[in-house]
Amino acid sequence: MNKESLAKVASDIVASSRGILAADESTPTMGKRLALIGQENTEENRRDFRQALFETDGMEMFISGVILFEETLEQKTSEGTRLSKILESKGVYPGIKVDKGAHPMDGSPSEKLTKGLEGLYERCLDYYKLGARFAKWRAVITIGDDMPTDECIRANASALAKYARACQDAELVPIVEPEVLMDGDHTIERCYEVSEKTFKTVFEELDNEGVYLPGILLKPNMVVSGKDCPVQGDMNTVAEMTVKCLKASVPAEVPGIVFLSGGQSETEATEHLNAMNMMGDHPWALSFSYGRALQQSALHAWNGNNANLETTYAVFYHRAEMNSKACHGEYSPSLEI
Ligand code: 13P
Repeated sequence: MNKESLAKVASDIVASSRGILAADESTPTMGKRLALIGQENTEENRRDFRQALFETDGMEMFISGVILFEETLEQKTSEGTRLSKILESKGVYPGIKVDKGAHPMDGSPSEKLTKGLEGLYERCLDYYKLGARFAKWRAVITIGDDMPTDECIRANASALAKYARACQDAELVPIVEPEVLMDGDHTIERCYEVSEKTFKTVFEELDNEGVYLPGILLKPNMVVSGKDCPVQGDMNTVAEMTVKCLKASVPAEVPGIVFLSGGQSETEATEHLNAMNMMGDHPWALSFSYGRALQQSALHAWNGNNANLETTYAVFYHRAEMNSKACHGEYSPSLEI
């Protein structure tokens, strides 16, 4: 493990108010996104949309890394350029989703355990050769009756830590993603409680595996009310409870926290990040690693038609810029177009 270069990549990714585009939807998930605009889930459609995002002029001022699905890492444009080369040529780090998805957990099948540890170190070596410099593994924690169980939190935390160690041994910066889902009618206080317990368990396991904390990024959920909870936390409550939860559980050696959007609207995700950064200095940089909250409007602008590329570029550029502003507390809804 080359600690110096891991720490450099991790801190570069969150430097200068930049963040990550999560464009690593699995092929079935990408199918759901394409269905929203009435398009078929073909390799060409997946490529064309992602290519439009990557080749957006100037996006590199706001985006430092892009998480790719395996297909995209080796995919080529119609002119034969590898998509990941477009990113590299702009100084944007290519990343790779390495988990094999969340599957029903033995003993508690309503909960999920993320798989993918088998052969992971060898895969990471290959991804590095293909240009990847960071990786992602997503664990999901569900809130519900008698859930999450301690076993589910522990097993997911343990897998995240083993993944993180394998990545660092192969010189990839691991993005450690424990996501407490928004699904359900639970209160924001319940989300706080489960998130704090989950994040603390994750850091215990990272310590057990000897993971080098300056060479990771944490990708957590924000502390929010369940989607179906009648009382929704307002912007400042979300920001305050999220920062409080992270201060209670995340060591200061971690260089950056890059939030997922998890089903928040584009503007909510930007407003929440902005509110947290307006609260002043934190021990770690607070940035974004959004999927839906960076792509939704761009996907509709593209609409499956490359005649709409100019609008797609403009819409994606705008969203990326708004989130970059939120990284230093300079976003305002009045900047929306
Ligand atoms: P969302 O921002 O759409 O939640 O996606 C981020 C991500 O990478 C989930 O694993």
